[in-house]
Amino acid sequence: MDNTPNAKSANRLGWFIFFGCVIGVLLLGLLATSITERRAESKWATMQIIQPIGEWESDNSKWGVNFPREYGSWESTKQMNENTKYGGSGKRDYLADDPRLVVMWAGYVFSKEYGAPRGHHHAIEDVTGTKRVSAATRASCWTCKSPDVPRMMNKLGGPANFYKESFDHFRPEIKNPIGCADCHNPKTMALQISRPALIEAFQRQGKDITKVSRQEMRSLVCAQCHVSYYFKDKVSSYLTFPWDDGLRADDFEKYFFETVKPNPDFVNAISGTPIFKTRHPDYEVFSQGVHAFRNVSCADCHMPYKAEGGIKYTDHQVRSPLYNMANSCQVCHRWSEKEIRDRVTSMQDKNREMLDQAADSIYPAHIEIGEAMKLGATDAELAKPRELLSKAQLWWDYVASNNGMGFHAPQECARVLGRAIYLGNQSRMETQRVLAKRGVINPVTMPDISTFEKATAYTKPYADAQKAAAAKH
Ligand code: HEC
Ligand code: HEC
Ligand code: HEC
Ligand code: HEC
Repeated sequence: MDNTPNAKSANRLGWFIFFGCVIGVLLLGLLATSITERRAESKWATMQIIQPIGEWESDNSKWGVNFPREYGSWESTKQMNENTKYGGSGKRDYLADDPRLVVMWAGYVFSKEYGAPRGHHHAIEDVTGTKRVSAATRASCWTCKSPDVPRMMNKLGGPANFYKESFDHFRPEIKNPIGCADCHNPKTMALQISRPALIEAFQRQGKDITKVSRQEMRSLVCAQCHVSYYFKDKVSSYLTFPWDDGLRADDFEKYFFETVKPNPDFVNAISGTPIFKTRHPDYEVFSQGVHAFRNVSCADCHMPYKAEGGIKYTDHQVRSPLYNMANSCQVCHRWSEKEIRDRVTSMQDKNREMLDQAADSIYPAHIEIGEAMKLGATDAELAKPRELLSKAQLWWDYVASNNGMGFHAPQECARVLGRAIYLGNQSRMETQRVLAKRGVINPVTMPDISTFEKATAYTKPYADAQKAAAAKH
């Protein structure tokens, strides 16, 4: 080694730079951790409950006395702001926007009315106002709408006694929209799971939901409702999450077609295809994305911290984060609001494009099977195309019914839609074989379903015939 004074100081400089870098990297690491931790800063120490809250208190204003800021922001979910490109707090009529849905759900209540979700404050108003509800509706449909639900389940001695009743039975009891008791323990204000279906789904997977971290709870309170579910059978109407095989579309397919095989939600009135209706698997889709991978929670984006006169609290105006990017996204991402919005909408545009392709491979498949039936094709001949179509629609709906237009897990949504398109086209090819056997060589002409009214006029005779056949049995 060269021992001249110059080389020595160069050597020292080298070590200095080296250790400088080490310390710099450590500091950056600490900063990164503090970014991810700051969303879960503990505030329980300052929690003071002035007016004690009853164990099953469902009246949100009674909680509000103690926590005016949280209550005030919760009340703001009443607001109906101008919609964002794909989401937002305004009304949106999915069937008018995309009448192909009327064909895919022919004979099922979803073909009558299906709108975008609004703020939590509207939950009671919207569930009692929808055409999907009738005298035949089960009480299970109240489950994700009100803190009166856990109160009634407790009063009746368990969820089974609640689910088996009719929807109408509880109209006088269920008045308060989604609120404090849905997510909080009234004594400690800690987050708490109030819905048995989520606890049971965890148990069936061998997991204990009381053992999860606080950061996980900031997503799991949402997973009580923002998940896919089905009713076990017509008599019990027991609300169940199809999670035993996992949360992906692949796992749902396995659950519905191989392992558990429950009854389908409905049979498509045009094609006679049994359908398992996927319902808003927001938590399931989110779990496949990069934010879940990096331990970001639903609350981080949809309930960010808000500062008011030096006091920091959780913003309870749950809504599209695109209304509130400064608090939601810019806490972690140093991108301008324009960059964030453009990035989100470009991801959503791509998802929309693939959704369209999937719908274009699925709705004609129903119509073609319907034509084959008119030509006398048997159930045995149509078993294969129907099974493929049923699966295609399951995969498509996993993305279609999930909120956020693909943002929560763009890559996974693209994969799922790719498979939906593949399965839809396979189904159509199989039907083409059946049609060809009966001399139909040219493609079946598609009806004009360009509006909700036209699509409904096309599907109505099929739905009526299905109803009449069911009445005969
Ligand atoms: C990284 C931030 C982020 C996380 C984490 C996140 N979301 Fe979202 N969410 C968004 C964005 C962005 C949209 C799209 C909003 C829009 O299009 O206006 C969205 C849309 C939604 C919508 C539809 C809102 C509307 O106005 O149409 C719902 C419901 C939703 N998310 C629920 C959830 C749930 C439940 C979780 C956790 C399981 C979750 N989100 C996790 C960012 C997030
Ligand atoms: C959809 C679930 C949900 C509902 C409904 C809800 N909260 Fe919260 N609340 C949260 C989450 C998530 C946090 C953050 C907790 C954490 O970080 O551990 C929170 C935090 C709080 C806190 C702690 C202080 C703070 O601001 O962070 C209070 C107090 C509170 N909520 C009061 C209320 C009241 C009052 C209502 C009813 C008007 C209500 N919450 C409704 C999910 C909910
Ligand atoms: C008790 C069930 C329940 C819980 C818990 C719940 N939600 Fe909701 N959420 C709903 C229902 C139902 C709607 C639709 C209400 C309507 O359209 O009237 C909704 C609507 C929304 C919307 C759309 C709001 C808008 O302005 O368009 C977002 C975003 C959302 N929820 C996110 C969340 C997040 C994030 C959590 C957890 C912190 C959560 N929700 C917890 C049932 C629930
Ligand atoms: C608590 C921190 C946090 C918040 C809040 C947050 N993100 Fe992220 N986001 C992350 C992390 C971590 C990643 C992964 C990036 C990485 O590790 O390189 C990420 C990645 C992304 C990506 C790249 C995703 C991909 O698939 O390539 C986008 C886009 C993004 N975030 C948008 C948003 C938007 C929009 C919001 C607000 C609605 C938001 N994020 C809120 C932490 C956050």
